[in-house]
Amino acid sequence: MPATSTIRTVAEVMSSPAVTAQSSESIAEVSKRMAEQEKGSVVIVDGKRPIGILTERDLVRFNASGAAASDTKVSEWMTQPVDCAAPDLSVQEAFAGFAEKGYRHLPVVEADELVGVVSLRSLMLFAQVQPVVHPSAIEAPPGLEGVIVAETEVGDVRGLEGFYHYRQYNAVELADRLPLEDVWHLLIDGHLPSAAERDAFADEVKPLRVVPGSVAQLLPSVASSSHTVMEGVRSAMSMVGAAEGYRPTLDIGAAERRRNALQMCAVMPSLIMAVYRLQNDLEVIEPRPDLGYGANYLWMLTGEEFDADKGRAVEQYQITTIDHGFNASTFTARVITSSGADVAAAVVGGMGALSGPLHGGAPSRALALLDAIGTADNARPYLLDHVARGEKIMGFGHRVYKTDDPRSTFLRSVAERIGADKIDFAKVVEQTVVDVLAELKPGRDLYANVEFYAGVVMDHCGLPPELFTPTFASSRVIGWCANILEQAADNRIIRPSARYVGPPPPEPLPDPA
Ligand SMILES: CC(C)(COP(=O)(O)OP(=O)(O)OC[C@H]1O[C@@H](n2cnc3c(N)ncnc32)[C@H](O)[C@@H]1OP(=O)(O)O)[C@@H](O)C(=O)NCCC(=O)NCCS
Repeated sequence: MPATSTIRTVAEVMSSPAVTAQSSESIAEVSKRMAEQEKGSVVIVDGKRPIGILTERDLVRFNASGAAASDTKVSEWMTQPVDCAAPDLSVQEAFAGFAEKGYRHLPVVEADELVGVVSLRSLMLFAQVQPVVHPSAIEAPPGLEGVIVAETEVGDVRGLEGFYHYRQYNAVELADRLPLEDVWHLLIDGHLPSAAERDAFADEVKPLRVVPGSVAQLLPSVASSSHTVMEGVRSAMSMVGAAEGYRPTLDIGAAERRRNALQMCAVMPSLIMAVYRLQNDLEVIEPRPDLGYGANYLWMLTGEEFDADKGRAVEQYQITTIDHGFNASTFTARVITSSGADVAAAVVGGMGALSGPLHGGAPSRALALLDAIGTADNARPYLLDHVARGEKIMGFGHRVYKTDDPRSTFLRSVAERIGADKIDFAKVVEQTVVDVLAELKPGRDLYANVEFYAGVVMDHCGLPPELFTPTFASSRVIGWCANILEQAADNRIIRPSARYVGPPPPEPLPDPA
């Protein structure tokens, strides 16, 4: 809505006459005058010409210095030379100038004579706040696409080349060849473990799989009061942080932050299976320290020994999803950490972001799509209709990849290796989706993403669809934690800006109804 009021000038909003002082006066005299007249600044004059300004902010700095106010001259603490505003300057221009230079008070001068003082507060009361042009403001595209917001050593995604890496290693190669704990060590401690470090790391993290007693006691209520496993685990993770007395990352050192992070990563798989079983009226199965990551994960699902290849396949899926650049949940976890909050708060925030269908909520929908299509003959007509109705095909498309998603290619090979039930049909559907999208959405470069074959692999390994997104979270928590530790180690609060586009303020309040 455009501003309709007439343009106001500085002369209309300034306070006049200005409170003034001589540069030879003491801070004590001048601050007393400011307090008596309830003003936030005093203009220092030579005759009628302003030569400096002393503001509340200067007095705060002065008080912190510990010097004696009665023995210190104003000239030592005033800001000089001083910028001035003209009385006929529009409120809007003055406001932009204040924002640009960080001023709070300016003397107003006409023909070299002081006629008043204008403050940021008075400008704000009257400014028709249109977009403030700030020279250092950067216009970010919707969805922050392509915007670099931090430096990281955790990893990166190279969308055009179809490649991503954890630290300096190809993530797919790590998933192909190493156990998850090695990759976990790489993410949290910065390097792949030696044999001795591997053992020490296992000794450190395996006890942390156990859910703290006070949280375990409450899990039945948590499970029954949540609709999804993800909701229950989100609450339980928060409770672990509280029960274990996690403190703000701002107040603790690197070792304590690392301890908290390791516990978050280790306990989440146990909580996922506990909540799932409780929601299905089954008894919780305790984690087994003698089993590796993937095998223990499946053990806690059924209490039965699994085919080792299935355990490895799930673990490989989990390795591929540990980290993936500044995706929505990782960014969320870093934003929360940047406020100095505790590790659990950041992890729980990440879980919230991951639960959405556009991020981690897609694999069960991708599998449901296969079921809905049903037969190879039905694939093309079904998909044409789906896209024509403006619906997205879950498990396809990616913000960064404009070629094959390497995670999808890898998981397709895993699904083939384990002889997943739905693999042949999934490959037919994948090709049909790619063709249909190329026809109906030309130039968008839409291919299968990690979620498409993730569902096929997890389904074959016995994980029910309601565990797909939690399983994604079970390893992404490691990526979040690596990012949380990195953010906390070199922190500045993440605080961007938005452009206000609503009706121009200040509008008078309506009369009470
Ligand atoms: C992943 C995703 C959120 C990326 O979003 P994005 O970078 O903002 O891309 P957009 O949603 O703006 O899509 C760009 C274009 O491609 C189309 N498109 C993107 N993904 C599509 C899909 N899966 N099915 C059909 N069309 C799709 C959009 O409709 C849009 O078309 P338009 O130009 O005609 O408006 C998006 O591809 C998507 O929603 N995919 C399905 C959900 C999914 O699988 N999520 C898991 C991600 S790992």
